[in-house]
Amino acid sequence: MSGKPSLLVEEGENRVVWRLNRPDVRNAIDRSMVDALHEACAAAEAEPKIVLIVGEGATFAAGADIAQLRERGRDDALRGINSKIFDRIHKLPMPTIGLLDGYALGGGAELAYACDFRIGTPRTRLGNPETGLGILAAAGAAWRLAELVGEPLAKEILLAGRVLTAEEALSVHLLNEVVQPGDLLATGHLLADRIAAQAPLATRLMKAVFHAPRDAHPFVDDVAQAVLFETEEKHARMTAFLDRRNRKEGHR
Ligand code: COA
Repeated sequence: MSGKPSLLVEEGENRVVWRLNRPDVRNAIDRSMVDALHEACAAAEAEPKIVLIVGEGATFAAGADIAQLRERGRDDALRGINSKIFDRIHKLPMPTIGLLDGYALGGGAELAYACDFRIGTPRTRLGNPETGLGILAAAGAAWRLAELVGEPLAKEILLAGRVLTAEEALSVHLLNEVVQPGDLLATGHLLADRIAAQAPLATRLMKAVFHAPRDAHPFVDDVAQAVLFETEEKHARMTAFLDRRNRKEGHR
């Protein structure tokens, strides 16, 4: 094991950047990276922040680490090593943004699918080659990909090894945006700025309610709204809007 941390965490005021840091193996996700991601999640749960996930080098992540994967057995699979961490990331309180340069394959793609937003570059490639390795995409792709792009395309990717180019992924909105590699992080920060301009608690509850099961609606929406209706922030933001209008009308 090398002494280099497999995940670099750069804390900002309202956001945090997680940098997958195993560039020599195309940021393959090994156990140490999963452990580091759990630690980073714990911090982002305790103090909710927008999360930007980026890969060191010109790759997002080329999947789970195949050297470790080859040695895993039934009990490891049942532990859900990757499925649990991607689920935890999906459920983070504030929005997450995947910045996908180069390959996002296998577990790397599943990590990207778990994010709320994905921004790519012209060289982004997204796919799930798991069945080619004799396993299945068991860390979210089997159900999340169909939700994102629909069953027909999900099946091409999962059952027939189709790898999407950036242009193809953009055309089905699997990527929200495609920018040049040198602009990727700045574009992620611009999106984070837009999110950070909203009321943080409203954003958190909007995300949670969005993902609530169908049967929980509309009650869960009403309860979350009840919480927000009682906040000072709602009152202040609405008053600021009305005052601005009143001032404008006064100038007419
Ligand atoms: N697990 C472990 N090691 C990996 C890896 C993975 N998922 N993906 C890449 N690596 C390693 C390679 O073994 C190689 O190591 P080496 O330098 O010791 O030989 C190094 O990363 C560079 O990979 P290489 O294949 O030479 O780079 P490339 O730029 O030519 O190709 C990929 C990049 C991503 C297309 C190719 O590495 C690949 O297909 N990786 C596996 C993708 C996959 O099947 N993922 C699903 C896993 S479930």
